[in-house]
Amino acid sequence: MNTPFVYGRIADKENFTDRKEELEMLIQNFSGLVNTIIISPRRWGKTSLVNQVVKHFETNKSIRICQVDIFNCRTEEQFYQAYAHAILKANTSVWDDFIASVRKYLGKLLPSVTLTDAAQTCELTFGLNFKENVLTYDEILELPQVICKDTGRKMVVCIDEFQNIHEYDTPIAFQRKLRAHWQRHSDVCYCLYGSKRHMLLDIFNNYDMPFYKFGNIMFLHKIEREEWIKFIQTRFQESGKSISPEACGTIADLMKNHPYYTQQLSQQTWLRTDYESNTDIVNLAFQDIVGQLSLLFANLIDTLTPKQINFLMAVADGVTNFSSKEVLTKYQLGTSANIKNLKKVATEKDLIDILPGNKIELQDPVFEYWLKHIYR
Ligand SMILES: Nc1ncnc2c1ncn2[C@@H]1O[C@H](COP(=O)(O)OP(=O)(O)OP(=O)(O)O)[C@@H](O)[C@H]1O
Ligand SMILES: [Mg+2]
Repeated sequence: MNTPFVYGRIADKENFTDRKEELEMLIQNFSGLVNTIIISPRRWGKTSLVNQVVKHFETNKSIRICQVDIFNCRTEEQFYQAYAHAILKANTSVWDDFIASVRKYLGKLLPSVTLTDAAQTCELTFGLNFKENVLTYDEILELPQVICKDTGRKMVVCIDEFQNIHEYDTPIAFQRKLRAHWQRHSDVCYCLYGSKRHMLLDIFNNYDMPFYKFGNIMFLHKIEREEWIKFIQTRFQESGKSISPEACGTIADLMKNHPYYTQQLSQQTWLRTDYESNTDIVNLAFQDIVGQLSLLFANLIDTLTPKQINFLMAVADGVTNFSSKEVLTKYQLGTSANIKNLKKVATEKDLIDILPGNKIELQDPVFEYWLKHIYR
């Protein structure tokens, strides 16, 4: 059965909603070869957004978009292999062309290409001395510009989960190397995105770092309540069921407009609806989701100290002035000197997001509900 909502995978076609301004801006940036950085907490729609922009350029012969996901690249070497692979793939449409361009552009690196499954996905690896021969890295980093000169096309290289480069052995030296190459590329621009706001801001907004002021920074927003209401109602209608605007609003409110969770709750509501949905069904579906996630949340709580838990509780309650005496006493947070550290730990664990203006929010709206109504 085809269900009308998606979560946990890319939202595209009729599953993709809103983001008009962001799409317009990215299309403009890509066309003008402006480097762009996209930051948002997890599951807000970065990958889906970039995917949508890539679709826009599909028929454009003068510009090629290349997407590299470095989520699984734990070392610099893995980065280069994934990078070279993605760039050559974006510039070739058939298998034979791919092999030919591996030979043409990277022949010196003793590449080998192996088919990994029947779907003709392949793995590109390099010869044994790849790791020792630092010069080969330069060759790979130059690849986009070299191909552009060769083909007369422009290229946009999109790198997903960019914050992962922080885990490599010498992250700053690595960033310096990337920047040194990339800033000389006149026919290529780079779109870098990821979810660890603090890490990414440190990379792009810190004067002492190589990528300081590398490009436009875009902070992705959640999708607005009104957009969700329209979207959810339409998706119900198109599948032969109906739902009131109030019930759609309840879905968006319970999930605080969080894209992934709003789609999940819509789906669970839809599955429980025969013909016509209402807020009672929405509430039941919500309780089910909370129930399903409870064990995960309980495990998470086990990894935290009592003060860290109290801090999250205060964030869930909407506290803003953490160093006031009243708050410190009410939530047993110790002295105000602790607050900085509590914020840091919660940020690093991806539990909270510190928004512009120093407003703090729990990233996960279901966890927030669970803390307030079940754990407490
Ligand atoms: N424009 C959109 N319209 C509708 N739903 C969306 C949209 N963008 C994202 N979503 C919902 O959010 C989910 C997560 O989207 P996506 O994977 O693009 O986010 P992400 O920010 O790349 O996440 P991660 O940080 O985990 O990589 C999607 O599966 C979908 O349910
Ligand atoms: Mg993503």
